Amino acid sequence: MVKLLFLAGSKRKESLNKKLALHASKLAADMNVEATFIDLADFDMPILCEDLEAEHGMPENAQKLKQLFNDHDGFFIASPEYNSSFSALLKNSLDWVTRPSPEAEPKWVPFKGKVAAISGVSPGGLGALRGLVPLRMYLGNIGVHVVPTQAAISNGFTAFNEEGALAHEPQIAMFNAVLHDLINTTRKMNA
Ligand code: FNR
Repeated sequence: MVKLLFLAGSKRKESLNKKLALHASKLAADMNVEATFIDLADFDMPILCEDLEAEHGMPENAQKLKQLFNDHDGFFIASPEYNSSFSALLKNSLDWVTRPSPEAEPKWVPFKGKVAAISGVSPGGLGALRGLVPLRMYLGNIGVHVVPTQAAISNGFTAFNEEGALAHEPQIAMFNAVLHDLINTTRKMNA
């Protein structure tokens, strides 16, 4: 069974993107996937600075996050759009994961050969679409195979039903296609 990690680039309590990542993890679990949802609020990490690293090494939470990426075959990110890019929280978290961690296995970047899908939700009309462009580029540059299918969920405040699932077509179909692409590609790469 393939193992996928689900996370959002927001730690806000009422985050729309956390909602999307959680929804995705539930859909994946119904598709015979070992799905793990994580909240970056539980991995409160300092802003990366090489002085800090030199003095204290990799923070324990960064090691834990790195281990989680290492233990999964792929991942899904629901990414909020901040000024046409992805959030500093997401960048900082992923940057920490790319750092060497002599104290913990694995010793180097756990992203190589992993599969990912990205999507986003925003209250506006573009559904975080513009932030997905730099996120896709960043992930590609650290060795991740990012599937081409993605979903930008607009009008986020009315996009979900009370159970936290997407409520409207065509967003449901668009989002399900992303998950199918992620799961099928991960299965093929792990066959
Ligand atoms: C935003 N927001 C936003 N929305 C958007 O569609 N395009 C944008 O460029 C921006 N820029 C932006 C910058 C900053 C600094 C903040 C804090 C917010 C609004 C954003 O989409 C909205 O707050 C989402 O609800 C954030 O995602 P979560 O926290 O709900 O997952």
